[in-house]
Amino acid sequence: MEELVALCKRRGFVFQAGDIYGGLQGVYDYGPLGVELKNNLKAAWWRAMVYERDDVEGLDAAILTNPKVLHYSGHEDTFSDPLVDCLACHARWRADHLADDRCPKCGSPKLTPPRPFNLMFKTHAGPVEDAAALAYLRPETAQSIFTNFKHVLDSTSRRLPFGIAQIGKAFRNEITPRNFIFRVREFEQMELEFFVAPGEDEAWHEEWVQARLDWWARQGVESNRLALYRVPAEELAHYSKGTVDIMYRFPHGTEELEGIANRTDFDLGSHTKGQSALDIDAAVKSNSDSNARLAMFDQEAKAWRVPYVIEPSAGVDRGVLAVLNEAYRVETLDTGAERTVLGLKPHLAPIKAAVLPLKRNHPGIVAKARDIKRNLQALGFGRVLFEDTGNIGKGYRRHDEVGTPICLTVDFQTVEEDDTVTVRDRDTMAQSRVAVGDLPAYMADYFTP
Ligand code: GAP
Repeated sequence: MEELVALCKRRGFVFQAGDIYGGLQGVYDYGPLGVELKNNLKAAWWRAMVYERDDVEGLDAAILTNPKVLHYSGHEDTFSDPLVDCLACHARWRADHLADDRCPKCGSPKLTPPRPFNLMFKTHAGPVEDAAALAYLRPETAQSIFTNFKHVLDSTSRRLPFGIAQIGKAFRNEITPRNFIFRVREFEQMELEFFVAPGEDEAWHEEWVQARLDWWARQGVESNRLALYRVPAEELAHYSKGTVDIMYRFPHGTEELEGIANRTDFDLGSHTKGQSALDIDAAVKSNSDSNARLAMFDQEAKAWRVPYVIEPSAGVDRGVLAVLNEAYRVETLDTGAERTVLGLKPHLAPIKAAVLPLKRNHPGIVAKARDIKRNLQALGFGRVLFEDTGNIGKGYRRHDEVGTPICLTVDFQTVEEDDTVTVRDRDTMAQSRVAVGDLPAYMADYFTP
């Protein structure tokens, strides 16, 4: 983990947010390469979930949330972790994360009994900071999918089964954020709510577990570091009839990368006028605030039915950590020298190709390199970098370390002889000459997902 964290800072993937003022615990910023990697991971998810299917629509809803949404969803009552205080040093801990009954900071056994600590961040919408202006930062993207269910249905005329996909920020006031970008207070989720007919939910649940494992494999996450955890009944979230977690062997231990839950008709039911699936609080039993019926009319049965929903919910930041961990390797070369390589899948690489002029002060070579960069950039595979630092060997090593799959070197032969460039492969370090005119096809071969 330390090596990854150091690489992320050194090469501009991830920085501690606000660190010139000491940082803010559990909050990170993505740097020039991190933003590309993260965007590429999200694009791969969106492609698989929305573009490659014909039964999913997209959504991008607001982060600021009306508290009633999170009241009827059950989050106000139940979205908490068990908090304990150390009576000796006043440190606070998540009870279920303690290895034993002692304070990890000072070793004191004097801890308070656990009490629920709600993880939602509150703010005020508008200039008056009173209860009427309370708003939450959403703790999951899912709820806005449910509250938009009718809008999406009405604007697209979907029938079951169909899904709504969303990628976006979520916020949780984690008691003890830790392990770099694994457990943070501000993060992103990639969530699909896939609505199905009751009775078909369990088969769809299994299908989505497999689909998600396959997708992680395509991102370069090896199956031997993934495991499925079928969450036992006593650990299930309040909305779930069954959850399967995809666990990944992170550098700090095996933990959840994605959860795939069968949320039944719980959420659509809870947000429907006059109904509630909630049993946890009598006050919430009947929804008197919603003006909507989040259901579909069943023509055969001549009745309204609330669909069931299967939810694959993945963390973007945990995904970034997993693909970085998978990709990172240090090799010893025949010469005895070491090289650090990020063997990222080409579609995830922050820089797809670097175009390097052999001589930075040779106008013909530089102009040619710039021209190649411009043409390859226009193909739309992602960032192509023109880089005239002059030292080709060092350039290759630097690009190995940030995962650039190919480097293209423009030299005298290019401009004076045959209009070919040297293409150097990150993984094999093999070099070959490719005609400039063939580069678009070469790139397409490499980067078409
Ligand atoms: N809508 C369902 C839901 O939010 P969850 O298991 O609480 O379920 C889903 O969260 C995913 O979001 C997790 O599998 C994880 O990848 C990510 N996630 C949750 N809390 C996180 C945190 N504090 N930091 C980073 N990622 C987090």
